[in-house]
Amino acid sequence: MPPTRVIIDTDPGIDDALALILAFASPELSVEAITTVAGNVPVAQAARNARMVLDVMGRSPGPPVAVGARGPLKKKLRPAQDYHGEDGLGELSRFKTGEGIPRYPEPQQLPEPQPAPALIAEIIGSAPGEIVLICLGPLTNLAMAIQAAPTQMAQVKEIIVMGGAIQAPGNVTPGAEFNLYTDPDAAKLVFTSGLPITLIPLDVTQRVMLTAELIDAVVRHIDSRVTQFVRDTTERLFGVEQRRTGYAAIPLHDPLAVGVAIDRSLVSSRPLHVEVETGDGPAQGMTIADRRPLKEEWKKPPNLQVCMEVDAGRFMALFLERICRPTA
Ligand code: BDR
Ligand code: CA
Repeated sequence: MPPTRVIIDTDPGIDDALALILAFASPELSVEAITTVAGNVPVAQAARNARMVLDVMGRSPGPPVAVGARGPLKKKLRPAQDYHGEDGLGELSRFKTGEGIPRYPEPQQLPEPQPAPALIAEIIGSAPGEIVLICLGPLTNLAMAIQAAPTQMAQVKEIIVMGGAIQAPGNVTPGAEFNLYTDPDAAKLVFTSGLPITLIPLDVTQRVMLTAELIDAVVRHIDSRVTQFVRDTTERLFGVEQRRTGYAAIPLHDPLAVGVAIDRSLVSSRPLHVEVETGDGPAQGMTIADRRPLKEEWKKPPNLQVCMEVDAGRFMALFLERICRPTA
């Protein structure tokens, strides 16, 4: 089987960085481009962080890293730097080599000059039915690409979106998940586009947890630049999660979306009609899925495939095996 050609649209972000590592360490995928969007951090920082991951993986120069939307379509950006750290990667400037040199210097690769939405549409339009787009941040770039280039975007093979909370509670408000909360107008446009979308909501991503015990038992024993990065970027976040939830455990939201592109059998999904609340009130960004036990003809037709179950043990084994692989 030839590898699946993917574009990763992302706002790194610690779990985004782990997702990029999983993608590059997986022979089932060929990453054609990374496109960045404002979300966890401002977009320039997101693009810098994506380029830093390429350096860590020994993949610079690698696929193009494009800069995208500087903020949501209508709402004001509220980044998540309290959670991911000021730099979005757990404050890596703390780490120095024995000689006092930064362990993570400025990335080598320059950003791609073409804006992210245009690059997404161009790559998809040039390979009809081949490209899987994996969206790990707010859906702003994707919405802009659909608006500007609907014919090219109709050629996409599949769009895998990490976002939403179907039965699970939210993670940024009681009802809403961060990516859809940040740009609900973009999510609404994407969800009503008619494109083939698979949703990876909190219902499954909060069941795949990277614990401090797993770092100690597995990752710490493998000596590589990637495992060092994984330990460094997660170190501060384990403390944040311990204070927030009482557990030193990080949900692998974005890596699971990449996992689904690698191996669909890790999850089971069902077709659902899902809408997104775009108002400014307490329901901003909430997903409303029609799970009523009615005959299908009484409901609006499904617009998404929604993942509701995950084989968490098998995904965690895959994730750990891939991040501990020797890199090129
Ligand atoms: C999503 O929000 C971000 O903070 C994570 O990177 C992930 O994409 C989870 O709600
Ligand atoms: Ca993300």
